[in-house]
Amino acid sequence: MTPRPRPKRPRAGIVGTGGISQLHLDGHRAAGADVVAICDADPGTLAERAEAWNVPAAYEDAARMFREAELDVVSIATPVSTHHDLVRAAAAAGVHVLCEKPIALDLDQARSMIVACERAGVVLQIGHQLRSDGAVAHARRLVDAGTIGEVSYVRLRQAHDWGGADAVRPSFATRATGGGGTLLDNGCHLMDLARYFAGDVDEVFARVATRRWPIELEDTAHVSLRFASGALGAIEASWTATGWEEGFWIYGTRGSLEWTNRHQEPVLRHAFRDSPGTTWDGTDVATVAYAGERAHTRQIRAFHAAVRDEGENPCTGEDGLEAVRLVLAAYDSASRGRPLRLGEESTDLAHAFEGIVTP
Ligand SMILES: NC(=O)c1ccc[n+]([C@@H]2O[C@H](COP(=O)([O-])OP(=O)(O)OC[C@H]3O[C@@H](n4cnc5c(N)ncnc54)[C@H](O)[C@@H]3O)[C@@H](O)[C@H]2O)c1
Repeated sequence: MTPRPRPKRPRAGIVGTGGISQLHLDGHRAAGADVVAICDADPGTLAERAEAWNVPAAYEDAARMFREAELDVVSIATPVSTHHDLVRAAAAAGVHVLCEKPIALDLDQARSMIVACERAGVVLQIGHQLRSDGAVAHARRLVDAGTIGEVSYVRLRQAHDWGGADAVRPSFATRATGGGGTLLDNGCHLMDLARYFAGDVDEVFARVATRRWPIELEDTAHVSLRFASGALGAIEASWTATGWEEGFWIYGTRGSLEWTNRHQEPVLRHAFRDSPGTTWDGTDVATVAYAGERAHTRQIRAFHAAVRDEGENPCTGEDGLEAVRLVLAAYDSASRGRPLRLGEESTDLAHAFEGIVTP
């Protein structure tokens, strides 16, 4: 009997081999792809990674990699200031793209990336991996099923301290490369989750501050949200925590959900009240333990499934654009010192930043 031909393994590339790239390598390999080429503008980093990862082709220039490496898919894992040009170059080469967050520095750039990928017929997924996290996915199912009633309040937090390093990593520390501080870097994930859990936002009121690091960007940010549904929300983003915390708290008219990575317990708490009682102890609590692969790997598996047309893209270019729109509106609100209705906001970072004074 003639053996059935094996399905072709996708050929994957990675542009940017810095901090986050290892998770892209692991994710592509877990999804059954061969990582056949990597690219980094820094020759030292590139050589180290090529050897450590045993990748056959290493390029300092992404355009050349797209010409020569015959890629099916690519991860763009470079600073946000480079995403626009690199995603457009990938689309022009007919390569499906998983682009790290935030999608871009402004909405025009984001739109041009979306259009380029649509015209080329390639998938554009944005790396808001929390959507693929087990707790987030389960919480979203409970919210959609009406298990906690109408959402009334969403609190979202992401905070860290650069792993105890004595400086902010250079690609994040300047407006030229990072675009914004913690509100853009961490806040874009949280804005995405806010939309994912509670729908459209119609007003934002933000404050930003630079308290710890000697940088031109904010290291501390707080945003109050009002959703179109009437629900409220709060976003807390900080580079001044001690340790790493991310979490969400969702209150609804019939119960609440909460999750944090703080205590290293992979558990989503669902509190509700079927029993009488007036104290917190008197509530009924269901915990959902989830296990398995980390969110980054799950999102890369989902990306490959979307490329094969066997699954939905969990975070489209439009989702990435909407997250950046909310971040820009928040900067603009902080800059003007007042709440801002969506639609009033500046659409590029330079304008949104105009009134913000940092040391
Ligand atoms: N989703 C997440 O959890 C998560 C976490 C960290 C970072 N990120 C995002 O990933 C991206 C990269 O972050 P990082 O922490 O890896 O940054 P990094 O500074 O550690 O690494 C970026 C790498 O890109 C290279 N580079 C820069 N411009 C390039 C170009 N034009 N062509 C090729 N290489 C280039 C740099 O030399 C560097 O090695 C950013 O958009 C960041 O926001 C996402």
